[in-house]
Amino acid sequence: MSAPSATTRHVPVLLAEVLTALAPRAGGRYLDTTFGGGGHAAAILDASGPDGRLLGLDRDPAAIERGTRHLAAYGERLALSRTSFDQLDEAARSAGFDAFDGVLFDLGYSSDQLDDPARGLSFRSDGPLDMRLDPDLTEAASDLVNGLAEDALANLIYRFGEEPASRRIARAIVQARPVAGTAQLAELIAAAIGFRPQRGRRAIHPATRTFQALRIAVNDELGALDRGLDKALALLAPGGRIAVISFHSLEDRIVKRRFQDWARACSCPPELPICACSGQARLRLLGRKPTEPGDAELQLNPRARSARLRAAERLQPGA
Ligand SMILES: C[S@@+](CC[C@H](N)C(=O)[O-])C[C@H]1O[C@@H](n2cnc3c(N)ncnc32)[C@H](O)[C@@H]1O
Repeated sequence: MSAPSATTRHVPVLLAEVLTALAPRAGGRYLDTTFGGGGHAAAILDASGPDGRLLGLDRDPAAIERGTRHLAAYGERLALSRTSFDQLDEAARSAGFDAFDGVLFDLGYSSDQLDDPARGLSFRSDGPLDMRLDPDLTEAASDLVNGLAEDALANLIYRFGEEPASRRIARAIVQARPVAGTAQLAELIAAAIGFRPQRGRRAIHPATRTFQALRIAVNDELGALDRGLDKALALLAPGGRIAVISFHSLEDRIVKRRFQDWARACSCPPELPICACSGQARLRLLGRKPTEPGDAELQLNPRARSARLRAAERLQPGA
């Protein structure tokens, strides 16, 4: 059984590589912290049949509602919860899971979300400046774009978008206020900084980094990732695997550093001549470098282009 294609526009990224990393087995317990269109979840359930179970989380109620309708054939093997992954411990407890043999984070947004102009996530079509994945969040992108002081807006665009022209963009936004929608915002950024093709690279749309910054800030994406990774490690059974797909360098840096810390036994400062912490490594890294999509996948799914997969295995305490 696999996810029926008519139910979602989303094509799961690095699917074969995720299955290799998580190595699902019959009877295993799995956590998909970013259920989305359910493509990875369905593949994990298929690979862990006949009795593997999976808890799927998403903070977007539309993803949970769609999954509940279209993956119903998995019956009690699949539990779904509208929960942000930084609350995954509570969701696991209420669904009756005390540990997992595999945990997946597939960060970012699904095609169902990106292609829906009403969500305001993309500069490619006009929509409201919303960007909330969870409609109950109180602050939308319009509150930041139309409400922040120029300095604070520039700092946000620089920090979360790594945008070198953040000050020019913030000034243009403040002069144009109120900014009504995504098309107006994208146009005014393009007018302020223009296209900047980089040698040897495809030009990216000038609004790309500012939109990334606003989405990250509205949804507190980096804070949620920090907290979610900690909670995932705590619930990973010995020998269990964790796999994280990130889509930009800010996310990937958090995952890389956290995995490296957890794979190191000693956390003493480098100036100490001998180890005083008696620390133990908690993870074994599966590969030194992240896995990236190959040409065949990129041809079929250009949205996979910035995906990076990092994976690791939980070590036995005391091993
Ligand atoms: C790239 S999609 C996942 C696609 C999915 N793996 C599939 O195969 O269809 C990312 C999903 O993560 C969800 N998401 C983002 N941040 C989240 C968070 N903090 N907690 C739970 N879900 C989150 C988004 O709403 C979106 O549905």
